[in-house]
Amino acid sequence: MNMNHLIAQTKGKLGILLPGMGAVATTFVAGVLAARKGIAHPTGSLTQTANIRLGKRTENRNPKIKDFVPLASLDSLVFGGWDVYGDNMYEAALNAGVLEPHTLAQVRPELERIVPMKAVFDKHYARNLDGTHVKPQTSKLALVEELIADIEDFKQANDCERLVMVWCASTEIYHEAQEVHSSLAKFEEGLANNHPAIAPSMMYAYAALKSGVPFAMGAPNLCLDIPALEELALLTNTPIAGKDFKTGQTLMKTIVAPGLRARALGVRGWFSTNILGNRDGLVLDAPENFKTKEVSKGSVLEGILDGEQNPELWGDIHHKVRIEYYPPLGDNKEGWDNIDIFGWMGYQMQIKINFLCRDSILAAPIVLDLALFLDFAKRAELSGIQEWLSFYWKAPQTLPELEPIHDLFKQLEKLENTLRYLMGEELITNLGMDYYEDVAEEI
Ligand SMILES: NC(=O)c1ccc[n+]([C@@H]2O[C@H](COP(=O)([O-])OP(=O)(O)OC[C@H]3O[C@@H](n4cnc5c(N)ncnc54)[C@H](O)[C@@H]3O)[C@@H](O)[C@H]2O)c1
Repeated sequence: MNMNHLIAQTKGKLGILLPGMGAVATTFVAGVLAARKGIAHPTGSLTQTANIRLGKRTENRNPKIKDFVPLASLDSLVFGGWDVYGDNMYEAALNAGVLEPHTLAQVRPELERIVPMKAVFDKHYARNLDGTHVKPQTSKLALVEELIADIEDFKQANDCERLVMVWCASTEIYHEAQEVHSSLAKFEEGLANNHPAIAPSMMYAYAALKSGVPFAMGAPNLCLDIPALEELALLTNTPIAGKDFKTGQTLMKTIVAPGLRARALGVRGWFSTNILGNRDGLVLDAPENFKTKEVSKGSVLEGILDGEQNPELWGDIHHKVRIEYYPPLGDNKEGWDNIDIFGWMGYQMQIKINFLCRDSILAAPIVLDLALFLDFAKRAELSGIQEWLSFYWKAPQTLPELEPIHDLFKQLEKLENTLRYLMGEELITNLGMDYYEDVAEEI
């Protein structure tokens, strides 16, 4: 399959719709605007800065991904979204306190023009929030119709050719899939009957997919990973991807654990604790919301250090994750990892990681990459779950019969090979035979 003929379709504007205009969303938009003006570098974004090797090593072909794949350009992006607070993006960015006021001042007029639409909100799903900028609580069916109308109005008003939606709103409470989520027909019946298990994030996703707009789930919410929405994505030929942006401590885990696995070192315990002080931390301070995050973070280690496959090394890992809300830190999260490992003859060793990271600085490029890759996926006629985007997720969505891949390096290989495949390039297997084949050809 070669998708070069789709390059022409990237000419118009791409609208990026963001449910939730808090720390991550405002840092993302301000960064794109600053990069567009040449006053900041989009560091951490694969689509803007990474190279991809093509062909054999001897060919020396390593273009930037953005020069290889027909992605929307930063200049073609427009932004919109919803929030439960009415602040424009400049005010919201100041409140979030991630970027310095002097940086924000340089993109202030553009940020001020982005004003959130009224949100679909249900306090039951985010108990620590008290938003006032919300659509009146009519029926859930009427609310999704309003969201669909918002999407269409935004598209018309901003003269967009295409749209994508990336959820950057708060983490919802933990809940499990029920009968109402099991098929599209039951879900639609549930919307009409105001079923309490239909969360706001599901309503945004439903509205996006109904409109053929690709959707990414940045929080650990139960949302896209229900049969009803997977069915709708396939029905409307729309790509979906989730869930929970992989930043901070989990990113480090999926970098370090593959190394321990590669060296066949044993792991007895992995204790991770975080302190953070932003609004995300406040929402996660409610136990029901923390549980959603805990479950999403929890499966990462087991996915890489498989205790069933190798019980001697990883069969009994004590894995514990803690998140504490500590306002003085603001968005500057601090994470500690204590890793108890063992080596030759069972001798014990320890690794300590102290990561003083900035959550939204790590998340913003992920939002950008997901938006551009999902738009590309739609133009490449891919639909449903986009497992090749696992790289970006703490809990990658896969087909129900498959185990997710968590290892960051395998995820990158999958992403790059998918791009090579779609662009008609040879896949890179790293099979160490290419040198010998070249020599054989020359002989
Ligand atoms: N920052 C990271 O590194 C990171 C990593 C993984 C996941 N996440 C997730 O991304 C999301 C955003 O993080 P953040 O730091 O920007 O949080 P934030 O609290 O600063 O922003 C979230 C915004 O969503 C709004 N909101 C809540 N419910 C809404 C609804 N129903 N409709 C519209 N808006 C709604 C809130 O008012 C708030 O402004 C969170 O769910 C967080 O768990 C963040």
